[in-house]
Formats: sequence, structure tokens, C-alpha cells
Amino acid sequence: MRVGLSEAAERLRAGELVAIPTETVYGLAGRALDERAVAQIFETKGRPRFDPLIVHVPTVEAVGPLARSLTASFFALAEAFWPGPLTLVVPKSERVPDLVTAGAATVAVRIPGLEQTRALLEAVGAPLAAPSANRFGRLSPTTADAVEAQLGPGLPVLDAGPCRVGVESTIVSLAHDPPLLLRPGGLAVEQLLPHLPTLRRPAPDELTSVSPGRSPQHYAPSTPLRWDEGPRPPTPYGALVWSDPAGHARAERVEVLTPTNDPAEAAANLFEALRRLDAANLPLIVVERVPEAGLGLAIADRLQRAMKGTP
Ligand code: TXA
Ligand code: MG
Repeated sequence: MRVGLSEAAERLRAGELVAIPTETVYGLAGRALDERAVAQIFETKGRPRFDPLIVHVPTVEAVGPLARSLTASFFALAEAFWPGPLTLVVPKSERVPDLVTAGAATVAVRIPGLEQTRALLEAVGAPLAAPSANRFGRLSPTTADAVEAQLGPGLPVLDAGPCRVGVESTIVSLAHDPPLLLRPGGLAVEQLLPHLPTLRRPAPDELTSVSPGRSPQHYAPSTPLRWDEGPRPPTPYGALVWSDPAGHARAERVEVLTPTNDPAEAAANLFEALRRLDAANLPLIVVERVPEAGLGLAIADRLQRAMKGTP
């Protein structure tokens, strides 16, 4: 069910959930300091309680009450990249319910890059917890239609069209010293490094302990997915390619991520392209390797996870 900004704000203030647009992906939002609303987010997504939520705020000042302490790096990164696709993990204050952070002593916060999201946050007048608006383990929605397909037509959705970035935010923990990259995402690591030269990438086995939600099975379509390597795929099959569909004349369906060879365009198209391929109900989707620089790192990460999520 589509709702306008003022109805969305009104429902959120009343403790209801609303699917909201951001520049990265659509989120399933509820008031972060309202435990009942937060519990309902976990319910609606079928999300395990050990997987903490990101809290969205309209201004840097609004982070103050949620954090126990904020460092110079926090302010420097906020200044450089907010509003935008960067989530910062900081020590949490007592105000933030344990349910939001899954019992962790830290809270993840971000100021979304889409103006409408910030207008909504201002209108609600309270921080919003919002995980991606998909059922747990499925593809993140980048359109209002994709939200409804997963969470049902009864959920109020504020529709702002397709998401500009298309992959989730980059997550950095400032609660670790040196800071840790918890998830590559919509802000390229290369852009972060000049501001955070000591940023470290955790080893894969370390990741589950520092970022509980980063289970390897995630973002999964229901069609089996593999890299386009080794033997030629048996027909019928679908193909996800970077920029050049040549070589897949035998494929039932081909999705091109970026005809102009632009990683940002590829990121914006990723989840919808996967969704369309999945909807074709083929026995296999093969995926061309992507250049792992800039946003390509986030794209490769999501594809890898999508592959682990299928049998
Ligand atoms: O772009 C985005 O970040 C979108 C939009 C809606 O803002 N949100 C999003 O939320 O992707 P979600 O819940 O799908 O992913 C949040 C990730 C999870 O992997 C979770 O484990 C991690 O953030 N996270 C949240 N709080 C954390 C914390 N205190 N410490 C470590 N990781 C945390
Ligand atoms: Mg998610």
C-alpha cells in the first residue's frame, strides 16, 4: 500500500512500521527507541534477534543522544560522507534498546543520502531503525514493487522510485581500534581510505563475531547461481554479465549490469537484474566475474553471498 510522506510520518510516530526509500535500498522502518516497533521489525522480516539494526537520523547532532562517546574520526567521516551510503558503528548510550543492537554495546548509525528520507526523519522527530525491507536472507529491494513482492501489499510503503545507489551502505566500526570494515557497500573503500588510513578488513572467520548479521548466506535468489567459469552452462540458463552480452547467445535470458562499464551503474542495477533472472525460473544463472575495485567490491561481495545461499 503506497502512502505519502505525511501519512508515513504519522504512522511511524504512532509506532507502526513503514517501508521507506533511501539512496541505497528500501528499509523497513520503525521508531528505534520503541521496543514494540523494533520487535515488530524482526517479526515482519523473519529476522533472527541476534542480527542488529541500523539507526537512521537526519543530522549529526541527532547521533549524540544515541552514543556513549564520539571520536574525532567519527566527526571527520560524518563531515566527509554524510548524508550518504556510510554506516558508522559507535559505542551506544543507554537510551538505545538492547533489542536494536542485539545486545551489543555498540550502535550502527547513518544519515541517509536521499532528501525524502531525511524529510521523513525530521517529520517523525525520532530516530528510525531500518533494516533492508526484504524477508531475511533474500535480495534487498530497490523499488517499492520489490518491497511489496516480499513483505506483502498490506505494508505501507513510501515510494520514491528506484534507489540511486542500489547496494546497501558501507559499514565501518569505529568501536574497534584500528577501525574495521564490516561490510563493503555503496561508498567505495578507496574513498574512505584517505580519511581512515588504518581501516582494516577482517578475515572472513572474524566477520561473524564482529558483525553478527554477516552470515554467508544472504541476498539469495532461489535459482542456483555460479561464476561463469569452467564448463559451458547447459541450456536453458540465464546469464548476468558486466557490460558485454556476447558469448551468451545460447542463454534464455541475459542481464547486463552496466552497458557503459560504470561500477555505480552496475550497483544500481544489481538486485533488480538478479530478481528478473530469478523470476525467469531457469535451472541455473551464471555470473561473469566483476572488477573488484570501487563499488565492484560491494557487488562481488553480494554475488558471493548470493551463491552461498543457494544449494
Ligand atoms: O543501506 C543500508 O544500510 C540499508 C538501508 C535501509 O539503510 N540498511 C541495511 O540494513 O542494509 P540491514 O539490517 O539489512 O544490514 C545491517 C547490517 C547487518 O549486517 C548488521 O549485522 C550490521 O549492519 N550491524 C548493525 N548494527 C551493528 C552493530 N552494532 N555492530 C556491528 N554490526 C552491526
Ligand atoms: Mg539486509
